[in-house]
Amino acid sequence: MTKTDQQAVTILVPGQFNDHAVGRIDGAFSRVRIERADPSLVTDEMRLTVRGIAAFGGISAALMDALPKLEIIANFGVGYDSVDVHHAARRGIMVTNTPDVLTEEVADTALGLLINTIRELPRAEAWLRNGSWLRNGNYPLSRLTLRGRHVGIFGMGRIGLAIAHRLDAFGLPIAYHNRRRVEGLSYDYHPTLKGLAEAVDTLISVAPGGASTDKAVNAEILSALGPNGVFVNIGRGSTVDEPALAAALASGSIAAAGLDVFADEPNVSAALLAAPNTSLLPHVGSASQHTRRAMADLCVDNLVSWFSQRKALTPVPETANVKARP
Ligand code: NAP
Ligand code: 8YV
Repeated sequence: MTKTDQQAVTILVPGQFNDHAVGRIDGAFSRVRIERADPSLVTDEMRLTVRGIAAFGGISAALMDALPKLEIIANFGVGYDSVDVHHAARRGIMVTNTPDVLTEEVADTALGLLINTIRELPRAEAWLRNGSWLRNGNYPLSRLTLRGRHVGIFGMGRIGLAIAHRLDAFGLPIAYHNRRRVEGLSYDYHPTLKGLAEAVDTLISVAPGGASTDKAVNAEILSALGPNGVFVNIGRGSTVDEPALAAALASGSIAAAGLDVFADEPNVSAALLAAPNTSLLPHVGSASQHTRRAMADLCVDNLVSWFSQRKALTPVPETANVKARP
């Protein structure tokens, strides 16, 4: 396909999107937009022309079916639980994501969130800024410490491993749960999440969303961590039974939680907001200009490669066998 042919390819961008990605799409393709990923907003012209979607996720089967010429969905993010990939695979639509380029950033954020949760650094800073240090003296000693902790990682994939490497440097023992043991990895493996939670006092979830992990972190798992237990979630909010988490925090069944992701973003439950033993972030795991630019480049590079070479760079496993149409 020549550059001019490629510029005739129409890419749909639903909702707000990364500025750098939009600039690159405008340079390489013809872009159309709708306010949100809603099939009722698709026009007749889009039905006839759209061959690719670039999006933050949330692509339903109905939206795919509203676009008969759709060949590829380039997801901005490594997690693609909000794209109906099984429908895409059935329809022969390629889905790509943005692995690796965000791994270290998200692992950094996970460690920051862990320390904020355990050592209460955001509250200590607020104490200084609101004049309490001057008026009332030193910030109270933190009840919790990282020292002596045993950390379990739920989801020992790319980001899980980067978190584990950082925790090695902190001198903390590590164990993990995946569906499959990672060959050649020396950390203790637990074939069940319950077994992992019983063995550790600090659980970091970096597992993907979707049916197989839905509300996997429930009252039983939290109680297995024990009253000194700390839960950190940098993966997806859907993996947690949030009412059970709020109840565990209120009753002292666990000691504290640090959350970057929530079940119904950007809504955060009143119970989690009010709990004194939570540290909460607005889904900023990968949110630096540096890393979002790298994600934007990989998202758009997938579109460029698909339409120029007829190959995706980083297909998700479910659509890895999808071939470009002749
Ligand atoms: P990855 O390399 O695919 O790792 C995912 C790990 O989870 C794999 O080791 C997998 O092992 C395990 N897993 C999947 N389903 C499981 C299940 N049902 N039970 C137990 N373990 C399961 O992905 P990644 O690049 O590390 O990213 C992980 C997730 O982090 C993403 O999917 C996304 O949801 C989240 N994330 C969040 C942010 C943020 O801003 N907070 C940023 C980036 C990513 P098995 O297949 O052997 O089970
Ligand atoms: C982004 C993420 O916040 O990559 C993921 O799975 O959750 C984050 O990096 C998100 O994808 C951007 O909308």
